[in-house]
Amino acid sequence: IDISVKSTGGNATNGHQYGFLHEDINNSGDGGLYAELIRNRAFQISERFPATLDGWHSVNDAKLSLKTLSEPLSDVLVTSLNVASPKEQGQVGFQNDGYWGIDVKARRKYTGSFWVKGTYSGQFTASLQSNITGQTFGSVKVKSQSTPDKWTEHSFELTPSRDAPNSNNTFAITFDASGAKEGSLDFNLISLFPPTFKGRKNGMRVDIAEALEQLHPTLFRIPGGNMLEGLTNRTWWDWKNTLGPLKDRPAFTGVWGYQQTNGLGLLEYLEFAEDLGMEIVLGVYDGLSLNGDITPKDQLQFFIDDALDQIEFIRGPASSKWGSVRASLGHPEPWKLEYVEIGNEDWLAGAPKGWDTFKEYRFPLFLEAINKAYPDIQVISSGSVYDGYDIPAPGAGDYHVYAEPDTLVAEFSKFDNVKQPHIIGEMAAIHPNGGSGWDGPQQPFPWWGGAVGEAVSLIGYERNADRIIGAAYAPIIRNMNRWQWAITAIQFTADKVTRSTSWYIWELMAAHPLTETLPATSQFGPLYYVAGKNDKTGGHIFKAAVYNSTDGADVPVKLSFESVEQGTAAELTILTGPKDPYGSNDPFTGVNVVKTSKKTIRSDKTGSFQFSLPNLSIAVLDTSPP
Ligand code: AHR
Repeated sequence: IDISVKSTGGNATNGHQYGFLHEDINNSGDGGLYAELIRNRAFQISERFPATLDGWHSVNDAKLSLKTLSEPLSDVLVTSLNVASPKEQGQVGFQNDGYWGIDVKARRKYTGSFWVKGTYSGQFTASLQSNITGQTFGSVKVKSQSTPDKWTEHSFELTPSRDAPNSNNTFAITFDASGAKEGSLDFNLISLFPPTFKGRKNGMRVDIAEALEQLHPTLFRIPGGNMLEGLTNRTWWDWKNTLGPLKDRPAFTGVWGYQQTNGLGLLEYLEFAEDLGMEIVLGVYDGLSLNGDITPKDQLQFFIDDALDQIEFIRGPASSKWGSVRASLGHPEPWKLEYVEIGNEDWLAGAPKGWDTFKEYRFPLFLEAINKAYPDIQVISSGSVYDGYDIPAPGAGDYHVYAEPDTLVAEFSKFDNVKQPHIIGEMAAIHPNGGSGWDGPQQPFPWWGGAVGEAVSLIGYERNADRIIGAAYAPIIRNMNRWQWAITAIQFTADKVTRSTSWYIWELMAAHPLTETLPATSQFGPLYYVAGKNDKTGGHIFKAAVYNSTDGADVPVKLSFESVEQGTAAELTILTGPKDPYGSNDPFTGVNVVKTSKKTIRSDKTGSFQFSLPNLSIAVLDTSPP
């Protein structure tokens, strides 16, 4: 295939084509990206989930029970753990399972705290131990300051002296029964953090955050997804509940079958975006919840005002009402916020009434109010033109695609003639070819053929990068111990993180950003491609995928850029997969089926780069200097 690329005449891109959606699904927030190690740390209650002793066990026959004291730790943490000793002497206490184990490493500094109420003279012992052998890997004594009249916080640092051989470990707190004169003590908000990504307090788990950072993401869609909408219009994700000291954060009624702590809140999301250099795509609740609850027009102003408050919190000056709250939480400088999305998938949830009211009044009212206050914000509808909405200017659309790879390939030119800007707010290959439909079973893991299908659609989006704001992989991470959505770019357990086949494709595509597309010969299938340049590096870039070539043969490519001289060096990276297109990376063994080949090639005397691409491969050629 001969491809000539012109030197001008393309479109400027916005520079942030790749990213991901994060919401707490698959325990990807609590027990995942959010580094807290203690499960059910504050016995929280929400509309759907009662307080429980889930994750907690007695040490030395102490009697554990949940109490609602007349003076709780806070207005929102009203249940606490009462630990009663069956004997008058000796160590008693309680221990926590962590989120399916705890990763314990020597010389790693764990930072913990817990609140106590009750008379106790003596010391607490906080320790990390094996569940199997009982071996202690590290422990620390914490002097009691506890009194019966008020809750007192105890803080400590614990540095194990040896590595645990596996993650089947527990965190325990014990005390000397003889020092607890009333026979029992009350505990709450028992927390333990390993070192976090970039050392942020209440921050992110390092290995997961690094796997995300290595994707070179520049787009971060938060906080959902279904999580934004909540199960009912009493339990939507209220950002105000996620700010400030942990003791003042009520639980969130998780929409994916588990209680959420609200520990991973708006500020933590914003700090993470800052740490990774990501543009935020902020979803604001728009009065539609997953059960179909719809806020009528005459009551919608409350949520419009709430969205404006949230925007002010993020980007208002420190002198503004909500900007000053942000400043009081340690971030006086406003964040950048250019993208605000109204609701999530209103075309799907509560349809058709939800979608009708979205078009009739909910989207127009949010669009008008937000752009009146912030004309530079790109307001995004939670559906696309393909959902039957001719989105009013200056709004943008959001297209979500969870599909078979064949569908993703067939959609290569889907946005060529769409005028309205769109974000691809959620995408992934999730169904095998021919075996799907929205409700069909997902593949057990992302697979190579699916990843190549994603690449074809991504290339199609990049060709339209003047109108496609960017594409977000969704959902992005999965805890292998409890999940409801199999296909994610990253999988993890308490001590292991693995990257899927899709991770490698998204990484390569994002590692070579185009600032401008360039017109090129159009002859697509089985080779799909986009060409452009990067003004910052001065490089000319070509990204391609081969999907279903005739008889599976290699595809020869002769590529010339009008403005690239003969003898120019380029780095050519080619990703190929296993023979079986359904081959996956295995999160249990860590086996990676993706092969990466990198070499430097030069344009020949006709000024062309010549190379061959195997069937089911993706490739990037980049002339940027190394
Ligand atoms: O990404 C998983 C879910 O899929 C999202 O929460 C929702 O928006 C979509 O239906």
